[in-house]
Amino acid sequence: MEAYTFSTKNASQTQMFAEQLAHHLFPGSVILLEGDLGAGKTTFTQGLAKGLGVKRNVNSPTFTIIKEYMGKMPLYHMDVYRVKDSEEDLGFDEYFYGEGVCVIEWAHLIEAQLPDEYLKISLLHKGDDDREIQILPVGDRYETLSKELEI
Ligand SMILES: Nc1ncnc2c1ncn2[C@@H]1O[C@H](COP(=O)(O)OP(=O)(O)O)[C@@H](O)[C@H]1O
Ligand SMILES: [Mg+2]
Repeated sequence: MEAYTFSTKNASQTQMFAEQLAHHLFPGSVILLEGDLGAGKTTFTQGLAKGLGVKRNVNSPTFTIIKEYMGKMPLYHMDVYRVKDSEEDLGFDEYFYGEGVCVIEWAHLIEAQLPDEYLKISLLHKGDDDREIQILPVGDRYETLSKELEI
């Protein structure tokens, strides 16, 4: 699998990138969102939500684990920072294999729960407002999607 890299120079460029990406998503899409605090995970999700036609303002779900927004497809915004991973089924599958798009901040913390195929997006802080967006597709559908993103 091939990784893709994009650079942005401010928050709105990151949001625009995510908004474009949203147009390529399908029901049951799973996006793992990685990056340090302040890297832009929530900012990215706001752009994604806009692309999905969500009207409500998206903010960090840190204290709620899952927030659901209605758009062309439902958007499930998850922040699993406070979830303990387990071999037991924690009930995420109805979201991962549902009709909506899942965006999971800090996804590596629930590694055992994750589906086999996903789009992993890592945001790297490169300078004041400079960010690098790394995209790693796992699975055919996400590889196709990533190729379509080469704008
Ligand atoms: N290129 C950029 N991409 C994304 N966010 C940026 C960028 N430049 C500056 N920012 C700012 O960095 C902050 C990122 O915060 P946030 O999205 O909440 O991060 P996280 O969810 O990863 O903790 C916001 O204040 C945003 O405006
Ligand atoms: Mg956040």
